[in-house]
Amino acid sequence: MIRSVLRGTGSALPRNCVTNAQLAERVDTSDDWIVERTGIRQRYIAGEGETTSTLAIEAARSALEVAGVEASEIGLIILATATPDYTFPATATQVQRALGCRGGIAFDVQAVCSGFLYAMATADSMLRTGMAKKALVIGAETFSRILDWEDRTTCVLFGDGAGAVVLEAQDVAEDGPGILATRLHADGEHCDLLHVDGGPSSTGTVGKLRMKGREVFRHAVVNLAEVLGEVLADVEMGIDAVDWVVPHQANARILDATARKLGLPAERVIVTVDRHANTSAASVPLALDVAVRDGRIKPGDLVMFEAMGGGFTWGASLVRM
Ligand code: ACO
Repeated sequence: MIRSVLRGTGSALPRNCVTNAQLAERVDTSDDWIVERTGIRQRYIAGEGETTSTLAIEAARSALEVAGVEASEIGLIILATATPDYTFPATATQVQRALGCRGGIAFDVQAVCSGFLYAMATADSMLRTGMAKKALVIGAETFSRILDWEDRTTCVLFGDGAGAVVLEAQDVAEDGPGILATRLHADGEHCDLLHVDGGPSSTGTVGKLRMKGREVFRHAVVNLAEVLGEVLADVEMGIDAVDWVVPHQANARILDATARKLGLPAERVIVTVDRHANTSAASVPLALDVAVRDGRIKPGDLVMFEAMGGGFTWGASLVRM
């Protein structure tokens, strides 16, 4: 059967790391409050010359290198972001230009923190139907540029970064590698709970991120536990079969609460929110790359990705590495 097989991972972070203590010099907050409520200790913030596309390009190059794939072999680039360099063209086309792989398909998807899951599912469908043979799927964000740095309830939560994977359509055995199942959802009813209050067609400005944190938290735990259950039901497996869960890194308390609800031991959850904070669409591929490079996630492992974000959008995907 034809499956989308994950050939390599890569990631990139801005140069500048900002600790909670450094943030507390700028807004009325403290290291203790941030660590206790979120688990975040530091985040990376894009500086001069660093944008969503520069981070995406660096992450893509590193994923290509690990995969042993030439940029010229890539026929599809899907980039998930809510913070593109420009309103248009798609940031994916900037990545395409920098890599020098012209003529294939390149576009962005926008599902905020679930963006990488949406992008991977889209790439999976296109690879399995033969529209391309090899794809780059990237999550890249510079949320620091849409934060209200006067609002301590949101500005402490986010960071910048990028992660990328190379997928290849391969004919594999039933128990072989690849994306096994994916479920995606959206519910526009809650679009006001987490949104940016600007845009080209409404205000003509970029806008700033606004969030009702408590309500987002409540929905996140319920939705994530449900969608993980749906994916496991699709493949007729229990949570015990899953070697690793790579969750969207929003908040350590959301990760703990979701794991508890699923009966999942904490040591099988990859956590990077302490060092990267919430990097939106970049968070899942960034955490994946960290765990692949430090040797925890190995070939043959069953890995569950999950994310939830503004919209709301949410989803999960089960992959055999
Ligand atoms: N430093 C110090 N005090 C703060 C800060 C801060 N940075 N932010 C808020 N406070 C204060 C509030 O003003 C409030 O004070 P008050 O009681 O005097 O009014 C108090 O702390 C409690 O505020 P709450 O908002 O009720 O705190 P809560 O325990 O809900 O934690 C948080 C807030 C961390 C945002 C939590 O609701 C949360 O994690 N929500 C999930 C949101 C999230 O992760 N969103 C990411 C995008 S969506 C996603 O990725 C899933």
